[in-house]
Amino acid sequence: MVIVYRSNTGFTREYAEMLGKAEKIKVYSVSEAESKVPSGEDIFYLGPLMAGHISGIDQAVKKYAVKGVGGVGISPASPQVLETLSKANYVPNAPIFYLQGGWAPKKVGWLKRRMVGMATRSMREALQDKGSRRTPEENQQLDFLIHGGSWVSFDKLDAIRDWIRENK
Ligand SMILES: Cc1cc2nc3c(=O)[nH]c(=O)nc-3n(C[C@H](O)[C@H](O)[C@H](O)COP(=O)(O)O)c2cc1C
Repeated sequence: MVIVYRSNTGFTREYAEMLGKAEKIKVYSVSEAESKVPSGEDIFYLGPLMAGHISGIDQAVKKYAVKGVGGVGISPASPQVLETLSKANYVPNAPIFYLQGGWAPKKVGWLKRRMVGMATRSMREALQDKGSRRTPEENQQLDFLIHGGSWVSFDKLDAIRDWIRENK
C-alpha cells in the first residue's frame, strides 16, 4: 500500500509525509502518482475537506483500490464530524478517518476565504459567546479560525497508524 494525497495549502501534505515516514510507506501527491502509481494499486488516500467533501476522493476511487481514507479539515475532531464525513464521502469497504489540519487564509483567494469565513461563522460565534469561559484550546481554536494557524500534530495520526499496521 502507498499513500496518495492532495493538498492545497500544505496541511494534508504534512500529515501524508509524517504518516509515510512513521509507517515506512511511500507517499505521492496526486500528480506524482499519475506516473508512478499504477492503476488498481492499493492506496491510503488523504485529502483536504472542501464543502464537506474530501477533495479528489472520487478520482482516487476510480483509479486505485482505496483501502482507507483520511479527510483533513478545520474543525476539532469529534464523533459528529466523523459521522457527517462518513455520510458525505462514501468509499466502498474502506474506513474513513478525520484529521484536524489548519487554516491558511493568506494562501487562498478571497472567494474561498469568504466561503470558509461563512462556513465557520457559527463555530466562531459559539466560541466568542463563551467569553472568559473558553479553555486554552478554545482560545487557540478561535484565534486560528480568525487569523489562521496549524493544528497538525503527529499524535493525531494514532488511529490511522494503528489501522495501517493491521492492514498494510
Ligand atoms: C473553499 C474551502 C472549503 C473548505 N471546506 C471545509 C469543510 O467543509 N470542512 C472543513 O473542516 N474544512 C474546510 N476547509 C478547510 C480546509 O479543509 C483546511 O484548511 C485543510 O487543512 C486544508 O488542507 P490543505 O492545506 O492540505 O489544503 C475548506 C477550505 C476551503 C479553502
